[in-house]
Amino acid sequence: MKKVGVAILGLGVVGGGTYRILTGHRDFYRKAHGLDLTVECVLERNAARAVELGIDKSKICSNIAEICSNPEVDIVVEVIGGVEPAKTFVLAALNAGKSVVTSNKELYCKYSYELEKAAKKNNCGLFYEASCVGGVPVIRTLLDNLQGNKILSMTGIINGTTNYILTKMSDEGASYGDVMKEAQKLGYAEADPTADVEGYDAAYKLSILSSLAFHTKIPFTAVYREGITGVDCTDLANGKRLGYALKLLAVGKNKGDGIEVRVHPAFISSNHPLAGVKDSYNAVYITGDSVEDVMLYGRGAGALPTGSAIVGDIIYCATHDNFNYSPFENTKDADPATKFICNFKSAYYIRLTASDKAGVLSKVTAALGKHGISVSQLVQDENRNGEFVSLILITHETREKDVDKAVEEINLSGIAEVAAVYRVVA
Ligand code: HSE
Repeated sequence: MKKVGVAILGLGVVGGGTYRILTGHRDFYRKAHGLDLTVECVLERNAARAVELGIDKSKICSNIAEICSNPEVDIVVEVIGGVEPAKTFVLAALNAGKSVVTSNKELYCKYSYELEKAAKKNNCGLFYEASCVGGVPVIRTLLDNLQGNKILSMTGIINGTTNYILTKMSDEGASYGDVMKEAQKLGYAEADPTADVEGYDAAYKLSILSSLAFHTKIPFTAVYREGITGVDCTDLANGKRLGYALKLLAVGKNKGDGIEVRVHPAFISSNHPLAGVKDSYNAVYITGDSVEDVMLYGRGAGALPTGSAIVGDIIYCATHDNFNYSPFENTKDADPATKFICNFKSAYYIRLTASDKAGVLSKVTAALGKHGISVSQLVQDENRNGEFVSLILITHETREKDVDKAVEEINLSGIAEVAAVYRVVA
């Protein structure tokens, strides 16, 4: 039986879930893997939380140095979140020769080059499956199972909070503000939801996943990002009528001429498997040149699902002697040879408010036509607001900057006002 000592830094939701899995399955891991996984100690300021989980007070440490100098600790699990003090603690653990398992997407996204350097220098493992999409095993899938492919694209719903909010808005016709209040009351959204609703959380994850998928460093700063705070339930209802669901999508593409990485709300056809991913569920839809389409679906957050990813990493670490690191040169910034495409191509949903009189439509389509934008669908909403009506257009695929120019021109012309624009993902 191989004895493996674990230290857990932080006993929040994920730390607590990890502890419960490790202790509850201890006998199972002995039999199944020949591993005796023992929680040797924890770093937690709130002693009451440790006691609530059934952790003996003698196992509660008050500083990282105690853990680093404990010869019984082989693996340090960092589930504190945020950059500091997590970064200092992880570096201290690696420099003390301990392997690290982390769920910290912001830390890994921003500083993996530095953490990995320390891990390599000290011949330690650095594992981060839980940093992206909770219990959904997307990192190891990219690192191992899909290595035979050139990954062409990856489209994901990788933030549960925003998916819950958009699902509720769509199902109940409720406003963003009302759904957010309810989500906070139920504990589904944080008191400060900025990281989720402004797309930062999804952008950290996309930076990590697309670096693995495309074998080159994609820094967070290269990811285009828009959140969902401006979403109006009118557009969710219009999209539904036209056969689309609105989702906060993380999109990564590598078509040979450059890389696109972006997080923004977008309509997706109701027939696409991602459209059926509802509430707080997550999914990643990956297309490889050999495997074709693969979709991974599941819980992107939560004590036990994220704990599952962490314990999977602990077992992997305990059963492998040679550690693998990033399958690309993990530098701080992108390789200068990597080309990022900002003026990407997409179809667009455009909602306009226009006065209901002769000639308005032809002027709108003329403005679009001037920028090479072709319309594939056009609907006039039957609900009037005085002399004004809503026009909803879906365009054929076009360049983002051409849409920006056409929208500006329509707004300046006085013929109609553009009320909303969303990308439409095929
Ligand atoms: N806050 C994240 C979400 C979970 O809502 O999906 C952790 O990344």
